[in-house]
Amino acid sequence: MSDLIKEPASVLIFGASGDLTARKLMPALFQLSRDDFLPPKCPIIGVARRTKSDQQFRDEMREAVDEFSRTDHITDDEWKAFASRLYYVETDITEQQDYDDLKARVREIEQQADIEPNRVVYMATSPNLFLPAIENMASEGMIPGRDDENWLRVVFEKPFGTDLESAKDLTYQLSGKLSEDQIYRIDHYLGKETVQNILLFRCGNAIFEPLLNRNHVDHIQITMAEDQGMERGRGALYDSSGALRDVMQNHVLQLLCLIAMEPPALFRANDIRDEKLKVLQALRPATDNIDEWACRGQYGAGSHNGEPTLPFREEDRVDPDSNTETFVAMKVNVDNWRWAGVPFYLRTGKRLPQRVTEIAVQFKHPPLNLFTTVECEGDMCQMVEAQPNTLIFRIQPKESISLRVCTKRPGMQYQIHPVMMDFEYDESFDFDLPEAYERLLLDVLRGDSTLFTRSDELEAAWQFVTPVLKHWQKSGEAPPLYEGGTWGLAAAMDLMKNDGRAWRVPSPPR
Ligand SMILES: NC(=O)c1ccc[n+]([C@@H]2O[C@H](COP(=O)([O-])OP(=O)(O)OC[C@H]3O[C@@H](n4cnc5c(N)ncnc54)[C@H](OP(=O)(O)O)[C@@H]3O)[C@@H](O)[C@H]2O)c1
Repeated sequence: MSDLIKEPASVLIFGASGDLTARKLMPALFQLSRDDFLPPKCPIIGVARRTKSDQQFRDEMREAVDEFSRTDHITDDEWKAFASRLYYVETDITEQQDYDDLKARVREIEQQADIEPNRVVYMATSPNLFLPAIENMASEGMIPGRDDENWLRVVFEKPFGTDLESAKDLTYQLSGKLSEDQIYRIDHYLGKETVQNILLFRCGNAIFEPLLNRNHVDHIQITMAEDQGMERGRGALYDSSGALRDVMQNHVLQLLCLIAMEPPALFRANDIRDEKLKVLQALRPATDNIDEWACRGQYGAGSHNGEPTLPFREEDRVDPDSNTETFVAMKVNVDNWRWAGVPFYLRTGKRLPQRVTEIAVQFKHPPLNLFTTVECEGDMCQMVEAQPNTLIFRIQPKESISLRVCTKRPGMQYQIHPVMMDFEYDESFDFDLPEAYERLLLDVLRGDSTLFTRSDELEAAWQFVTPVLKHWQKSGEAPPLYEGGTWGLAAAMDLMKNDGRAWRVPSPPR
């Protein structure tokens, strides 16, 4: 067993028959078990309403792990070792009387495994069940206090609130039952290897950090694009949330924090989170003229891989009159000493031309264009001059870090040519990158909350986003349409064009 986890614990998954459990949690737990990161005795207990035996649960999880695991071929021995950890307890999370049985059964399983009641509870359910679950656990005495020897860590899936008020309210209500150090608000983006590498790259190399400020950086672009629409029945959930709440408020703002924050004095959870919080607090508040720096859109009909695609309003389980935005772009300012005057352009959306997440730091032009030439081919002539350096963190797919630099094109003249210096994970390291959920589950088991969002961070993010949300809700207008499969939306292009800049077209993965 790896020594990363000091104490054995059990993992309870509330919502164990759902999509997240099947696609992400079980494959991640299987991988951790297979790679020897889990203690030998670490029962995994599924909790949901549907009636099923332990064996049925194991069989269903085998199918899920076979389908979604990053391990290509799972041997029977590997599966047996993992399956022996799995149990299922039928429970209605909202019914207090079910917790008697749940508590007794969980304790029985732990005693069989000869472990203390140290527990991770993973809330893989809809957010309206978060509070009832915690209240019922508290009434049943399943929440240890500060002085207890045993511990409980509760992982909350997103969304944690739907605006500033509801997020504050949920935090307040939970705070009566759980202390902040028992709460792990997950943002799975932070579990991705490249995301963690942003900090390491910045603070583990002496050459880049001195350049990341207003003196050298022209602007930063963060793109989180998906080519998919509402596959796998996501329509209903997405229609009730939209791109601003689903992605911008959490994933995109977290990426912004990691690239913009000051290096912490120590690499400790709270030091890092303090620095991220300062970035969120420095965001220029969304008070006036929202339409000048934020825009939204909804995809209309379009195409994907040459096949026609439906408009959002015609997708499965989407309201045909929906005004939900499927695209958001913003120009935001981080009003602090380091970044004053450097715009951050953020965009996220569905049904865009490709699935890509990247942060691109565009540096300023060289102060003098020494090497300008005019190149002609037939009647066509173009001016060739130095292009600004760009540092690109590609978070998905094909994780990489690249730097665009200018070089001399071989030949008798001084002609300038941009080239990319690339670091690609799969070429430099000879092993599969762990899935984000593997890293995050391991962190919860070892009590490391660095990659989880603290309540003040969460509130600061909502504080920034909520006025935009309210502004759009108040307008009552339908978002402008963009053609599915395009980068679309003139307003988003104008955000850049008005500043004499342009969005990058991310290169397709090689
Ligand atoms: N799916 C994803 O990829 C994904 C990604 C990011 C975040 N999330 C978040 O993760 C959470 C779960 O998403 P999901 O897609 O897995 O949802 P889901 O497929 O609808 O699953 C919900 C689970 O909750 C259980 N459940 C519902 N009511 C219950 C009750 N009263 N008592 C006990 N169990 C109950 C359901 O099982 P029974 O019907 O058997 O009770 C089911 O196992 C949501 O907050 C979602 O926003 C999901």
